Parts: sequence; structure tokens; C-alpha cells
Amino acid sequence: MPKPINSAVEAIELSGIRKFFNLVQDKEDILSLTIGQPDFSTPESVKQAAKDALDANKTTYTQNQGLYELRDKVSQYINDLYGTHWCANQVLVTVGASQAIDIALRTLLVPGDEVILPSPIYPGYEPLITLQHAKVVAIDTTPTAFKLTADALEQAITDKTKVVILPYPSNPTGVTLTKDELAAIKDVVVKHDLYLITDEIYSTISFDAPHVSMAVFEELAERLIVINGLSKSHAMTGFRIGFLFGPLHLMDQFTKVLQYNVSCATSTSQYAALNAVTEAKDAPNKMCEAYLDRRNYVYHRLQAMGIDVVKPGGAFYFMFKINDPRPSFDLALDLVEQAHVAFVPGSSFGRFGEGYLRLSYAYSLDTLKEGLDRLERYLSPNP
Ligand SMILES: Cc1ncc(COP(=O)(O)O)c(C=O)c1O
Repeated sequence: MPKPINSAVEAIELSGIRKFFNLVQDKEDILSLTIGQPDFSTPESVKQAAKDALDANKTTYTQNQGLYELRDKVSQYINDLYGTHWCANQVLVTVGASQAIDIALRTLLVPGDEVILPSPIYPGYEPLITLQHAKVVAIDTTPTAFKLTADALEQAITDKTKVVILPYPSNPTGVTLTKDELAAIKDVVVKHDLYLITDEIYSTISFDAPHVSMAVFEELAERLIVINGLSKSHAMTGFRIGFLFGPLHLMDQFTKVLQYNVSCATSTSQYAALNAVTEAKDAPNKMCEAYLDRRNYVYHRLQAMGIDVVKPGGAFYFMFKINDPRPSFDLALDLVEQAHVAFVPGSSFGRFGEGYLRLSYAYSLDTLKEGLDRLERYLSPNP
């Protein structure tokens, strides 16, 4: 028998979402409100740009950091949207936002470091932290309407803390943060000399107030990494294009990790991305309008069912709780079996997600209506 494999790989698990799907995938007549990807098509001009790149034989490696023109244009695009000051050399083009997160964590962490996460949270961070033999410190945000507060952050910091990860608008809660709330968090990060990774992949889906990027705070310049990408904004999940924006002094380090992993992001996807942030830069607005209608519809329906729910300010998710003591996995399974409607069990988003269900409204209003009708009948079978 060869020697044991990396114990950290053995320690991580398939995501809870995947386990749930494996159990329910063969069941018939299930209406799913589970998927975390836009139900819109990729904008036509973006698809055309990918085809044109193929036809022009733009099928070779690019610079490791990504095409210069793309980095230049995406920094302009983000700067125009959020009043930030990124330049082309502060951008790394990655294989989805997922790879940007991995590269940031692999570059920053050594064994024993602690990383603070507000929870419930997107399940893509914790396993990557474990792979670095670093430790996750989760903050329970359920008492503060799913918001990370500066006070809670201050209390979670130890002398081992190195990184804070802050995703907003949030998957799975949809909650976002105001400039004042962000400023208070920023002060704690600076005071304790930490790195901050904000995952702003849902930044274009912000309803009640414009998204505020953490990068507006100049004091963070040396320590802030912003993750973004085109998967959600431009309905481009399969193109696998993400962006890591970071301090100039770390960009060569990030680029080395990317180089020895994938050399560069796919060339044709990068040309499509260039179109997305120039010609198709307004495409996210239409999608955001549709998500807003759906957000309002779902909120109204859940409230009418007597479900107490935090109104999400962005992304396309609701985290809600029904009056049922069962673990969320069992409850979600029962909803599939009895009501033929699927939500993701809250336990997939860390232990503080237990007791909740996540609804995605990246679905048409008709689908949402049918799914919510099924939930309503489940909750009051004999009206
Ligand atoms: C908060 C968050 N970050 C990152 C990602 C990954 O994005 P990508 O598909 O671009 O890798 C997701 C996908 O669901 C997400 O919800």
C-alpha cells in the first residue's frame, strides 16, 4: 500500500449541496428552486466575440495574468461602476471567481493561520482554508440579521488571525452592507493588521442602494483583495472567467500560483469577457430589474405564509426558516418527497445555516409561483 495521501484532502467533504442533489436527482416532478446561476442567456455580443476569437485563431496561451486589454477594460468597468481606482496591473484574470478565491488563500495562508468567516456562508471557502492546514473561525450572523458587525469581528480576532473573508451581497442570504457598516469593518481590519478578501461577485445585483465596493477605502490599499467575475453579472458561468483585484506588491505572487496551476484563463473566454465589460457592459441592468421583481414577489409570498424573513438587498437568494424542528437536510428532503419542491438545506452553508432553507430566485416568475404554491400547500395542507 503506498503512503497515505494528504490528510487535509481527506478532511474536506463534497459540498452539502452536492450531497442533497445526489439524493433527489432521480425523483420525478420536482420543481427546483435551488440553482445558483442566472436563468438568462449570455448576451449575444459576448457569444459572438467568443466565436470571432475562435475564427481568428485566438486560441493560444495569453499572458499568465490575462490579456492586457481585458485587464485594462475590466478595471475601467469596475472603476466606473464603483468609483474605485484599480489599474490593469492590479487585475488577475482567473478561471471563475472560484480560482481567484483559491489563489488568494493559497498565496496568503500558512498552516495554523486563522481565517474569519461570517456564517451562514457560501461553501466554497472553508475547504480551501482546510487544504492550507489553516483554521476557519465562523461568526454566527443569525442574531444580526445575517450581517457581519465590527463588534463581532473584533471579538473573533486572535493573535493567529490573518484573513477575513466578507462576501456581499451574500450567497446564501442576499444580505448586503452599507458604506458605514463596511467602514466599521474596515477599521477593525486595519487596527489588527489583517488581510481582507471581499467577494463581490454579486455586486451588479444590488436592489435598494448602489453597491459599495470595499475598495473605496484607501486605507485598505495594502491588504484588500476583491473577488469579482462575470458568472453572475453576465450569465456566463460556463465561460469560467473571474477577476482578482489586489495590491500591486502581491500581484506577482498571485500570478505565480496561477501560472503553475493553469498558465492562463481560456483565451476565447477572455475575448468574450472583453466584450462583456465593454459592449455588453449594461447587460447586468436588465437582469437586475428582473431579479428585483422576483425578490419582491418572493418576499411578499413568504410573508403572506407567515414566514419571518430578512429582506435581501442583493444577489438572488432568500434564507428562510419554517416552524419545524427537524434538521434542515431532513426537512428539505421531506419537502421534495411530500411537496415536490426543492430548496437547499441551510446546513450546506455552515453550522449557523442549520434550521434554514435557501431559495434561489434565478427562475421565472411562473416557476417561482408554482414552487411557492407547493410550499404553501405543504405548510397548510387543509386550508
Ligand atoms: C459568493 C460566491 N463566490 C464565488 C462563486 C463562484 O463563482 P464562479 O462560478 O465564477 O467560480 C459563487 C458561485 O456560486 C458564489 O456564490
